[in-house]
Amino acid sequence: MELPPRPTLFDFHGVSMTKYFTDNWVNIQSFKARPDDIVLVSYPKAGNTWVSYILDLLYFSQTSPDRQNSVPLHERVPFLEISIPGFPSGVDELYSINNFPRIIKTHLPVQFLPQSFWEQNSKIIYVARNAKDSAVSYFHFDRMNKAQPEPGDWSSYLQRFMDGKMVFGSWHDHVGGWWEKRKTTSNILYLFYEDLIEDTERELSRLCSFLRLSPCTDLKKEVTEKSQFNNMKHNKMANGSADEVFDFQISPFLRKGQMYFPLSLKWFLKSGLTQLMGKMPGYECNAVFSLIFCSIAWYLECFLTLLVFIW
Ligand code: A3P
Repeated sequence: MELPPRPTLFDFHGVSMTKYFTDNWVNIQSFKARPDDIVLVSYPKAGNTWVSYILDLLYFSQTSPDRQNSVPLHERVPFLEISIPGFPSGVDELYSINNFPRIIKTHLPVQFLPQSFWEQNSKIIYVARNAKDSAVSYFHFDRMNKAQPEPGDWSSYLQRFMDGKMVFGSWHDHVGGWWEKRKTTSNILYLFYEDLIEDTERELSRLCSFLRLSPCTDLKKEVTEKSQFNNMKHNKMANGSADEVFDFQISPFLRKGQMYFPLSLKWFLKSGLTQLMGKMPGYECNAVFSLIFCSIAWYLECFLTLLVFIW
């Protein structure tokens, strides 16, 4: 299908977005959640596809084995806010699902999640990935995804990434906004891409205990094996090749699937030395220190990004 020209970014309630994620806004915001829904949230390129595949295998590989070979992952795990002319919207796809639980992909920042998910106490899984790898992955993704704005060259892209002028806004606000939310909401599990790389089985156990699942040993083994990078990369139903907006001649969707940057995002967030603290009552005195610390860490990370990229 012939796609319209690439969309442009615009400010949407303080977050950079494109029309493909805002055109259906009323229906997105009035989406009717269910208590058994599982919402899989991430900033773009943090491993959402990986975790969605793990969840789909956990829930359906034994009860509906056929869907693994015949239904592309993006149809099994619809993308809530997407609405591209000529394709079914994420909302419509979700309403037409008849196997439960629904596994729902979203990149919405915390303030945009439809109210009904909070009211229904749906389970929410957030996946975070460090900024450097997210930026590199996002750049290559924007090159090959014809439904994203033109990325331009890397150095201007990186600057825009640091300025938060990306689809779904600032990495920092996204990762930090959901991190803060999880402190006051018990039904959010916060995962790290780096942890999944380090020990997939351990993270699978965390996922299962959050979802109150007790898979048998064989199923756990199957999920761990099938969701390995190389297996997913060669699986046409899970590697994005069924998605018409991707141009695989430019870049594969599952590109490298590695962790390059050693700075631990988990430590960074857990240490509490973030700008976010400045916004919390009682922490104002830490705000300046947090700001300085974060800025240094942030610019150091970006500097190293450039070095790695040039190298
Ligand atoms: P790279 O571009 O660095 O390779 P998302 O699904 O949120 O768009 O994230 C895509 C990123 O997750 C890509 O990163 C992709 O390769 C990586 N990814 C997907 N499946 C993976 C897996 N099984 N193991 C490791 N990384 C995976």
